[in-house]
Amino acid sequence: MVAPILDVCDLSVVRSGKTIIKDICLTVDEGEFVGIVGPNGSGKSTFLLAILGVLRTHSGTISIYGNPPRSRNLHRRIGWVSQAASNLPRDVKLTVRELVRLGTLHSGNIFDISDNGRREKTLRAIEMVGLEDVQNTNISRLSGGQKQRAVIARALATEADFILLDEPLVGIDRDSRNSFLKLLDGLCHDQGKTILMVSHDLTAISQTAHRMIFLEETIRFDGPTNRFPDLERLADLRGIEGVHDYDWNVNKNQGA
Ligand SMILES: Nc1ncnc2c1ncn2[C@@H]1O[C@H](COP(=O)(O)OP(=O)(O)OP(=O)(O)O)[C@@H](O)[C@H]1O
Ligand SMILES: [Mg+2]
Repeated sequence: MVAPILDVCDLSVVRSGKTIIKDICLTVDEGEFVGIVGPNGSGKSTFLLAILGVLRTHSGTISIYGNPPRSRNLHRRIGWVSQAASNLPRDVKLTVRELVRLGTLHSGNIFDISDNGRREKTLRAIEMVGLEDVQNTNISRLSGGQKQRAVIARALATEADFILLDEPLVGIDRDSRNSFLKLLDGLCHDQGKTILMVSHDLTAISQTAHRMIFLEETIRFDGPTNRFPDLERLADLRGIEGVHDYDWNVNKNQGA
């Protein structure tokens, strides 16, 4: 049996004395595209930051490729696109190629002046996201969708197989969003990447992810996308009670 890429067991994370997420249990296998949704402040980014080892676990364990977060063995195996990663400062003067090339740098080669295949890795990542035509363009001149692709390419240039994305759909128009989701789908199916993506855009993410997680302090739903709960069941899972004395089913039937 192949070991999962991510194995999280009874995880809780405390920030400034407050429990933000708790009792999280989850395994993710190679090639899965998992979408994480949940309301604002429900702990989605906190969860990703704990996987990355930026935040400490309060209790429970996280294992990535069989290693704890921040293990040396995970070096360059995890790609991360942070929330608002494409909101790059306007005064940053970098071309797409230069930005993506940054993804090939790490502590072991930062002072290495030889190319060591970095040019090739950069170009391959740019091709994967379809930005060849604008590779010499300054990133400040790109559209929102192109910027998202550029920051994904930077993550791909690290050659990571496990990619974490936090709200990559924010600020991109409908057409760009659709082609961006196709790109992510292709990365899973054709390149064998494993993707964990947080998004508010439930409709968009459910068109692409194989599996969906609803996170609100803890995991309230985890299952195939086509089993994602409807609004009524979701309210139930979240412990939200209806404020109107109204039976939807009775009224639906009467209206039919
Ligand atoms: N440094 C911090 N100290 C204390 N609490 C924090 C800290 N950072 C975030 N929080 C709180 O943790 C909770 C979860 O935040 P988090 O950013 O993980 O939510 P999120 O689900 O990613 O929200 P959003 O959808 O708005 O991005 C929020 O209530 C937030 O206020
Ligand atoms: Mg967040």
